[in-house]
Amino acid sequence: MHTDWDTIIIGAGAAGLFCAPFAAAHGKRVMVIDHAAKPGEKIRISGGGRCNFTNMHTEPANFTGQNPHFHKSALARYTQWDFIEMIERAGIAWHEKTLGQLFCDGKSTQIIDLLVQNLKDAGAELRLSTTVQAVDRTDTGFALHTAAGVLTCKNIVLATGGKSIPKMGATGLAYDIARQFGHEVIDPRPALVPLTFPEGRFAALSGVSLPVRVWTDRARFDEAMLFTHRGLSGPAILQISSFWREGEVIHVDLTAGHDLFTTLRDQRQAEGRRQLSTELARHLPARLVEFLTTEWADRFDLSGRLADQSDTALRALTDHLSDWTLTPAGSEGYRTAEVTLGGIATDGIDSKSMMSKTVPGLYFIGECVDVTGWLGGFNFQWAWSSAHAAGQHIAES
Ligand code: FDA
Repeated sequence: MHTDWDTIIIGAGAAGLFCAPFAAAHGKRVMVIDHAAKPGEKIRISGGGRCNFTNMHTEPANFTGQNPHFHKSALARYTQWDFIEMIERAGIAWHEKTLGQLFCDGKSTQIIDLLVQNLKDAGAELRLSTTVQAVDRTDTGFALHTAAGVLTCKNIVLATGGKSIPKMGATGLAYDIARQFGHEVIDPRPALVPLTFPEGRFAALSGVSLPVRVWTDRARFDEAMLFTHRGLSGPAILQISSFWREGEVIHVDLTAGHDLFTTLRDQRQAEGRRQLSTELARHLPARLVEFLTTEWADRFDLSGRLADQSDTALRALTDHLSDWTLTPAGSEGYRTAEVTLGGIATDGIDSKSMMSKTVPGLYFIGECVDVTGWLGGFNFQWAWSSAHAAGQHIAES
C-alpha cells in the first residue's frame, strides 16, 4: 500500500540532518521534520559558536551508557576521520583546540549549511515549524499526526535529542514514542553540567580557574575547574558531572597531580622566612589561597612562616590540597546541561542498524539513545555515527 514517504526523520538536529542523505540514497523519499523554525540550533550554539564537531581521539571508552559495547559498531563504521574528510571536501577550515577537540575556524553555521545542502542534494525534504502530536502504527508502517495533517511512512527515525536546554526546543518526544512502542527508557538526567553548592559557598572565588584532577569512584579527569557564584564549573566539573550522583562526594586535586610536598620542602630550605600562603600563591591562584587560609584555619596556619612547618605539617597540608573532598548540593539541571544522560535503552536496539529489535522500521539515533559522550566533540561524533548506521540500513532495506 502507498505511503507518503519512505522515511520520516523526526528532529532536524545533528543526527537527523546527517541521517537524511544516507536514507535518501537510491531515490528513497525522505523528509526531516522539526517543530523549531530553524534546523540544527544546538550545532549553531555549540563550541562557543564554532562547533566542536568531533574529537580526533574518539574511541568507545569516551562514552557512557548501560551497555559499554553498544556504540562500538556505529563508531567503527563512521569515524571521526570520515567526518573530517567530509568537511574538508566542503572547504570548511578547522583546527584542534586542545585534547583532540576539533573546531571550525569560522562559524558553526558552516556545518549546518553543509548538512542542509547535503540533505537537499540527496533529494530529501526539510519541513520546519511542524509539531508532531502523535505516532501510530499502520499496516504499512507509521502514521504521524502533525498540526499540518497526517503523514504516512514506512520508517520513522527518532532524532529529537535529549531534554537539555528546553528553551531551545528540547522535548522528551523520543522517550515518549519509545515507551509507547514498548521500549525501556533509562532515567534521563542532566549531564555535562555545572555542580551547585549551598548558597554563597564559593562566591568569593567566582571567576577563579585552575587546572585540577577531579574524580569519583567511576571516573577521573585532568582539566580546568572554574569557581562560580553557584558552585563549580569548567571542563573538569562538566566531565565529572556525568558520573556523579546526588549525595556523593567529588575529590579535587588542586595540585593537578604535582608533587607539591617536595616543592614546599625545598622552598622551606631556600626561603624559610617566606609566608606559607605566599609560597602557595606561586602554585595556586592567590584568591584561592586566601579563601583556604580562612576555610582551613582550624587545621592549618597558612599565614605562618615556611621555616616553622614540619615535614608532617607540610605533608598533611599537601595531602589535603591533593584530595579536597566536596559534596555538591546538586547540578544546574537541564537549563544549562550540554547533554542528557540515560535515554532509550540500548537492549532493545540493534547496534548495527539502530533499528528497534521489536518494531521493524522504528529507528533511534543521536542523543535520545542511552549513549552519552564526554565533553570534547564526542556527542556530535555519536550523532554522526549513529545517524550513518541508521541511514545506511534504511537505504539498503
Ligand atoms: P539535537 O538536540 O541536536 O536535535 C534534536 C532536534 O529535535 C532539534 O532540532 C529539536 O528542535 C527537535 N525536536 C525536539 N523535540 C521535538 C518534537 N517534539 N517535535 C519535533 N522536533 C523536535 N556536543 C559536541 O560534541 N560538541 C560541542 O561543542 C557541543 N556543544 C554543546 C553546547 C551546548 C550549549 C549544548 C546544549 C550542547 C552541546 N553539545 C556539544 C551536545 C550536542 O549539541 C548534542 O549532543 C547533539 O546536538 C545531539 O544531536 P541530536 O541530533 O541527537 O539532538
